[in-house]
Amino acid sequence: MKKEYLLAPGPTPVPPEVLLAMAKPMVHHRAPVFEAILEEVREGLKYLFQTRNEVLIFACSGTGAMEGAVTNTLSPGDKALVVEGGKFGERWAQICRAYGVNARVLPVEWGKAVDPELLRGALEQDPAVRAVFIQATETSTGVLHPVREIAAIVSPRPETILVVDGISHLGAVELPVDHWELDVVVAGSQKALMLPPGLAFAALSEKAWRFVQESKLPKFYFDFLKERKNLVKNQNAYTPAISLVVGLAQSLKMIRQEGLESIFARHARLAGAFRQAVKAMGLELYAPSAFSDAVTAVLSPPGVDAQVIVKILRDKHHFTIAGGQDQAKGKIFRVSHMGFLDASDTLAVIAALEMTLLELGHAAVPGRGLKAAMEFMTGHNK
Ligand SMILES: Cc1ncc(COP(=O)(O)O)c(C=O)c1O
Repeated sequence: MKKEYLLAPGPTPVPPEVLLAMAKPMVHHRAPVFEAILEEVREGLKYLFQTRNEVLIFACSGTGAMEGAVTNTLSPGDKALVVEGGKFGERWAQICRAYGVNARVLPVEWGKAVDPELLRGALEQDPAVRAVFIQATETSTGVLHPVREIAAIVSPRPETILVVDGISHLGAVELPVDHWELDVVVAGSQKALMLPPGLAFAALSEKAWRFVQESKLPKFYFDFLKERKNLVKNQNAYTPAISLVVGLAQSLKMIRQEGLESIFARHARLAGAFRQAVKAMGLELYAPSAFSDAVTAVLSPPGVDAQVIVKILRDKHHFTIAGGQDQAKGKIFRVSHMGFLDASDTLAVIAALEMTLLELGHAAVPGRGLKAAMEFMTGHNK
């Protein structure tokens, strides 16, 4: 018997209700039945993104929406400032450069969050910067960047927008688009939205829509204006990923039923319990002070290759987690708390991790991590 647990930071488990919704017979995307689904989805997405504006839907992975965010807001030669403290920060810079945007990098040590004052300084030094790009949660390091503080710096500048990658964040950790005055927020289906990969989203502020009107970079499929024009009529410009959108209607229903506040509290509870557990096992967090509740990155014990931990968890205990990337490869492993996960999943991965460490001869006392997690979850640690 082989029971699989998926605790990688994307893709994440999909609830049976969503799987069943996606298994329904195909409908036509110009038929009233699908228009009604899109209407419901539009409302659900506004709730999830906490915005009054339309949230655009594309049939692609998250990177497609990232590319669209660049090509729809900027023009050739525009200046951009990219917060780069991990793999996905690098991706913003790569997309900008691919389209001839003059991207300056604000480097951040991996495992640390950006200092908002450094960002303020960089913007004061170069007021011509048209867009600031950042991750809300940088998945490669488990870091939570101070997006709210950064938005407070960027939003008073009429000629600069803040573009936030919320792909490993939205629906897991607070990111109220309108309230924090975020200009562009992109997300993907395969994380906290409890769906398979294949849908990406973009929400834009009024200020960002003004940038869209002025933007001169080339675009075709990812044409935000064209997509919005169709969406307000419950249409898509092209054939949508119909089954995924039907699944999305179901997952958004579940998100509404649980409520955003309860969802954020659940993620905080599971991530908090996991952090206590790894510390009780004698391990250290890769982002000890700026951790996100969406994904936790843990330093492997000295002398133990993190890839070996990932492999034993997968092959022997049937838990899929993630290793480190690039400079963090072999040094860290990452466990997700996003989406359709509960206390039992979290306790199970902690138990499997404790067994793995024992098998590797790491001097851990079995049950220490579980005890710390259970105490945290039940409030018995106070
Ligand atoms: C923060 C972040 N940005 C961007 C991406 C890229 O998304 P995708 O692989 O869906 O294109 C990911 C995916 O893991 C991510 O975690």
